[in-house]
Amino acid sequence: MAMPGVSAGVEQMLREMREGVPEGRVPARIFNDREIYELELERVFGKAWCFLAHESEIPRPGDYVTRYIGNNNIIVARDEKGEIHAHLNMCRHRGNMMCKSEMGNASHFRCSYHGWVYKNSGELIGVPYFNEAYERKLQRKDWGLVKVRIDSYGGLIFGTLDPDAESLADYLGGFQFYLDIYLKQGLGGSEVHGPPDHWVAETDWKICAENFSGDGYHTPVAHQFGFHLGYFASSGATHSKGWAVHIPGKGHGIGLGHTPGMPPFFGYPDELVKQMHESLSPGQLELFSKTRTAVGNVFPNLSFLIQPLSLEPGDPGVRFCTMRLYHPVGPGRMEMWSWCLVPKDAPQEYKEAAYKAYTLAFGQAGTFEQDDFENWIKVTKMTGSTLARGVDFPYIQGLDREPLKDFPGPGYAVEPYVTEDNFRNLWSTWVRYMMEGE
Ligand code: FES
Ligand SMILES: [Fe+2]
Repeated sequence: MAMPGVSAGVEQMLREMREGVPEGRVPARIFNDREIYELELERVFGKAWCFLAHESEIPRPGDYVTRYIGNNNIIVARDEKGEIHAHLNMCRHRGNMMCKSEMGNASHFRCSYHGWVYKNSGELIGVPYFNEAYERKLQRKDWGLVKVRIDSYGGLIFGTLDPDAESLADYLGGFQFYLDIYLKQGLGGSEVHGPPDHWVAETDWKICAENFSGDGYHTPVAHQFGFHLGYFASSGATHSKGWAVHIPGKGHGIGLGHTPGMPPFFGYPDELVKQMHESLSPGQLELFSKTRTAVGNVFPNLSFLIQPLSLEPGDPGVRFCTMRLYHPVGPGRMEMWSWCLVPKDAPQEYKEAAYKAYTLAFGQAGTFEQDDFENWIKVTKMTGSTLARGVDFPYIQGLDREPLKDFPGPGYAVEPYVTEDNFRNLWSTWVRYMMEGE
């Protein structure tokens, strides 16, 4: 049966991809194509749970940020009672953008066109010339801002445009276990350090999502300059040791790289390590204490990375954490949003050092960020060409590998972490969304 609203060419590509991914083949075309981009807005970003904000970005009543799910601009605000709400940033009178700044504090939003006023919890409370113009017939309660369903885990606020979507807990499907390495850095959890950087890049969000699902394979090549400069004193040549884990059918994946012989929780201050013995479960402690680099992606487009970075040559390294969102803004085009996450309870000195390490590595001008984008932009350019449309890429690493038995965490885990299991799971999830679960 034909897929409604999809051209015959893309439909055939998706059907072939569904068969091809489990055998280790992914078509080049998905990385830069207008029709695929438009279909993704409907079928991926219109259905999935998408990251909106971290609770620590809006700590006080009235705090708000404006964010995106697909092409929908959304106000995420904490009301006067402390409850968090998300609404489409569009006036219900004629569609004007309600809130034009990216962050701030306001109890109300007043439209700059005809002056309708909404509470930060979304209710319409003010209509100019209510008696004269509407003769009191307008029911204010029916014209509040369009609500977006939200839920949170560990301080991360997600939203979905699909009223029938499964719960966030089911959607994450056990990946919470691994997210805790980023979100439970100490008893107080994690918080953002400063506002996010964001910038437009000529690359497709999926290339980044795949890379952060655990591409340990590119590190010694793409980031070799960092090795030469001594930024990775604790890594040496052992980058491939560790585990790759994914949640089958959910699309989430993580690579946990370790360096044998490295002290547990290397690069954190001692007092924080003590706290982590309480904030993490025994299974998490077993894995995370050995982990040097944790690079993971929550389907579709929210990623994290933790690793130690040496601020001085020979220095063993300070551990930093970045959270990043790949917001699609066109075929082969995205806006990168990048945050630094720090343990809330850590000494200020450590937070500053971690922020410095993050900035050097994964801030807008960070050395690793530059290395990655140089490649991702070229991948996007090349995969958008006419001849590339019929070309597949091999995704066969680890195809015959058995999952580890008795692994302390949930999901499908393999060793070592240079493998493509996580990517096959990512692409089979993506293609299922694109085919609307057909
Ligand atoms: S568009 Fe907002 S009040 Fe008219
Ligand atoms: Fe990279």
